[in-house]
Amino acid sequence: MKDSKRSKSEDKSAYERAADSGVDPRCIPVRLSGPPIVGDAIPSPGYSDEEHETWQLLLRRQRGLLEGRSCDEYIRGVSLMEFPEDRIPALSELSRTLERRTGWRVARAPGLLHERDFFSCLAERIFPSTDYIRPRYELDYTPAPDLFHDMFGHMPMITEPSFAAFYQRIGRAALRAQGVDRRRVERFYWFTVEFGLIRTPKGVRIYGNGILSSAREITHCLSTATEVRPFDIAEITEQDYDVSNLQPLLYVIDSFEQLERTFAEWANNRGL
Ligand SMILES: [Fe+2]
Repeated sequence: MKDSKRSKSEDKSAYERAADSGVDPRCIPVRLSGPPIVGDAIPSPGYSDEEHETWQLLLRRQRGLLEGRSCDEYIRGVSLMEFPEDRIPALSELSRTLERRTGWRVARAPGLLHERDFFSCLAERIFPSTDYIRPRYELDYTPAPDLFHDMFGHMPMITEPSFAAFYQRIGRAALRAQGVDRRRVERFYWFTVEFGLIRTPKGVRIYGNGILSSAREITHCLSTATEVRPFDIAEITEQDYDVSNLQPLLYVIDSFEQLERTFAEWANNRGL
C-alpha cells in the first residue's frame, strides 16, 4: 500500500529517479522477480520489419570486421550459432544450439540484470540474454545491453568448451565472493569476458565479447591507441575501468587453458 506521507521523490521508481539524475534508465540493473524463463519456454516477441533490418545491418557489418581481428574460436562459434541473416533469431533456438554444444542454455533477461541474478545464471550454465534490439539511431553505439550484444557478442564463445567451463567458474566465484573480492571478480570479468585479447600464431586476436559486438571497439582495440599488457591476474583484479569510453588498456592471454587455469587457482586460493 502506498504511504501518503512519502515525499514525491520517494514515490518515484528507480527508473524515474535515474532519468531525473541523467542516468540512462536502461543502465539501471533490474532484479528477477522469480526464476528466469529458460530455453524452449521463452516466448518470441514480435519484431517490426525495421528491427529485423537493424539486426541484418549489424550482423553484416560486424561479420565483415572479424577477419584478421577475432580469434578462430569465436569465428567457429559464429558459424556454429547459425545466426539467420534476414531475421532476429529466437532465444529458444539459440538455447538449443548452445545446449547441444556445451550444455549451456539461454534465459530471457528483462534488461541489465542485477549482478547477483546475472552470476547466479552463469553458475548454472545459463546465459541471460535480452530479447530487444537497439533503436536505429543507436546503431553504432548503445550504452545499454541489447540482443545483438548478447547474441552475437556472447553466445559464440559459449560454444567453445574451455571458455564455457571458465564462464561457469567465474559465475560461481562471483556468487561466493564478498566485498572487495566481488569487485575483483567483476574487474576480471570486464578485462577477459568483455574485453579480452589472445595471442595466437597469427598475431594478437580478440575474444572479448564486448569488443566483438561493437564496430567502434573492434577497430579501436588493435590500434596503437590501445595499450596492451601481458595477462596478470593480480594486476587485472585491481585495475579499474570506465564503461563509457573506448577502452585504453587491454590484457592479452596466451591460451584459453591459461585463462581457465589461472582464474581457478586464484578463486580456489580465496575459497571462491
Ligand atoms: Fe556483455
